[in-house]
Amino acid sequence: MLFAFLIISTASGGWLYPEQIHLSWTENEGEMRATWVTYLPVSSVISFRSMLCLDIPNPTEWIYVQGSSKKFQAGDKISNIEYIHTGVMTGLRSECKYEYSVGDGLFWSDLNVFSGRTPDYQAPWDTRGFEIIVLGDWGTGPNGQYTRHIINQEAKFRDFDAVLHVGDMAYDLDDNNGKVGDQWLRIVQPISANYAYMTLPGNHEKDDNFTHYKQRFNMPLNDANQGTGYFYSFDYGPAHFVMFDTEVFFYYSNDTQQTQLNWLIQDLQKANQNRDLRPWLILLSHHPLYCSVNWEIPLLQSNKDCGVDTIKLQNDLEEIFYSNAVDIYFQAHVHNYERESAIYHNKTVPSEYDGPHIHIGPKAPIYITNGNAGNRDGHNDPTSPTPQEWAQYWSNDYGYGRLKIFNDTHLYYEQYSAPLVDTIDYVWVIKTAKRYN
Ligand SMILES: [Fe+2]
Repeated sequence: MLFAFLIISTASGGWLYPEQIHLSWTENEGEMRATWVTYLPVSSVISFRSMLCLDIPNPTEWIYVQGSSKKFQAGDKISNIEYIHTGVMTGLRSECKYEYSVGDGLFWSDLNVFSGRTPDYQAPWDTRGFEIIVLGDWGTGPNGQYTRHIINQEAKFRDFDAVLHVGDMAYDLDDNNGKVGDQWLRIVQPISANYAYMTLPGNHEKDDNFTHYKQRFNMPLNDANQGTGYFYSFDYGPAHFVMFDTEVFFYYSNDTQQTQLNWLIQDLQKANQNRDLRPWLILLSHHPLYCSVNWEIPLLQSNKDCGVDTIKLQNDLEEIFYSNAVDIYFQAHVHNYERESAIYHNKTVPSEYDGPHIHIGPKAPIYITNGNAGNRDGHNDPTSPTPQEWAQYWSNDYGYGRLKIFNDTHLYYEQYSAPLVDTIDYVWVIKTAKRYN
């Protein structure tokens, strides 16, 4: 009997063993959600404990959380059934690190570690500075390997607070009956199992009505998003972040667009009532509002990504951004890096002072394209040799950005080249008022 059990356990271990572990913040303070996959229907358990708290130097007792799971048909074959498990660790304290493991009570993952600092929704307010990694368009192929390698190193030897992935992942999550999505989630696990990995959908998630995106990621809930993870916001340090969905403007009805727009406008109004406490207002979504069209290569002159599509989104969104005094909009989709000045109605809006790497007192949203973490298609839309008048810096290097907000007035962003293993661009944004209008 024992022998048979051992054989079954050994043979099935690969299907029972938790994989694709990723963390995400929730809509509540002091919580971290873990999501993972097995290929057999087993129990969903998280064990976690605090460690390295200043006032409690030794690890505490293990706390066990019973999660839940759902069966997911990842492809059209019977062999592509997987079980997506999730559970929430609660009662976290921002001054502690936590170690945790996920499993079914028999097969456990390795231990991973995360910070107990989470979004801050209630007093006493935590408005300390932070550092967050921003990236977009990251797949499984060779182009994404540089980024994977460097962020894995960063995750081991430096510290940051979270990763914000601005759409397009795996290329695609559903490809090869979902095996590409599985592979990519295994690739990013060294990062996503140790840091909140916050996502929003891009056009590469659209197959099957965004099913793989909705099933595989668990983002904060709100009354309007119906648990889809398409749009949500959170307060962190001196900033309010809004992650939202520009795909809705291309693939969904006016009603669906309006649902999100209503939510977005309400969310921004609320953020503005709170601007004294959190003066930074950072928006992120996949499609760009401003990027330079390539006027030298005839095929790319009609590139709709930086042409008709940007004009459409300017019409839909720019007035909302400007009237709510959005500080920075992070965008992706085009596979390069381009940093723009503060823009309104397709023209640079001068700040109180502008230098090549500094804006003091900007008076309109600054736009940063960060779609070069490394995708399947390579540089199918390389940086334009004819950058528009508002373009400040551009590069084709694969890599990602580091956003550091120090306090109410000082924000620093740098673009890291993964192949060069070095910073290639940076900008300081210095506020002289809580909002510019
Ligand atoms: Fe895209």
